[in-house]
Amino acid sequence: MIYVTRKAHFSAAHRLYNPTFSDERNEATFDKCNNPRGHGHNYTIEVTVAGIPDPLTGYVIDLKKLSALMEEYIIDKVDHKHLNYDVPELRGVIPTAENIALVFWQILEPKIIDGKLYSIKIFESDNNFVEYKGEPVGKTMRYDLIENNLNVSF
Ligand code: NI
Repeated sequence: MIYVTRKAHFSAAHRLYNPTFSDERNEATFDKCNNPRGHGHNYTIEVTVAGIPDPLTGYVIDLKKLSALMEEYIIDKVDHKHLNYDVPELRGVIPTAENIALVFWQILEPKIIDGKLYSIKIFESDNNFVEYKGEPVGKTMRYDLIENNLNVSF
């Protein structure tokens, strides 16, 4: 198996906030990321596709194709946006790097035809990043659905 990775960057605002917490608990839990009007990060995303090189091209996936998929389905949706408000797929999700990786996986996985999506890394800063490889993680809270006692499974 060969692993092919494409990296991209986006800048976005977010606010980490759980409406079932008190203001004090939100601040204690999410600190700077709980800033009432949001704040920004310069994110890096790394998408890795695993596969066997096509004998005719030597490619697992044409990186131009992977780059175009990431631009169309991820970067164009989130770059210079507010993740809490502007991205339908993230609506009601606490936009931690963990949850961003989960949601991006849902978006991108069906689009990867050559090879198979292997991992998504989301860097929120140089030192902090998460990696998701598609394993089930149970329920991720969507707080806009709490009132209906609904959760969305990943
Ligand atoms: Ni933050």
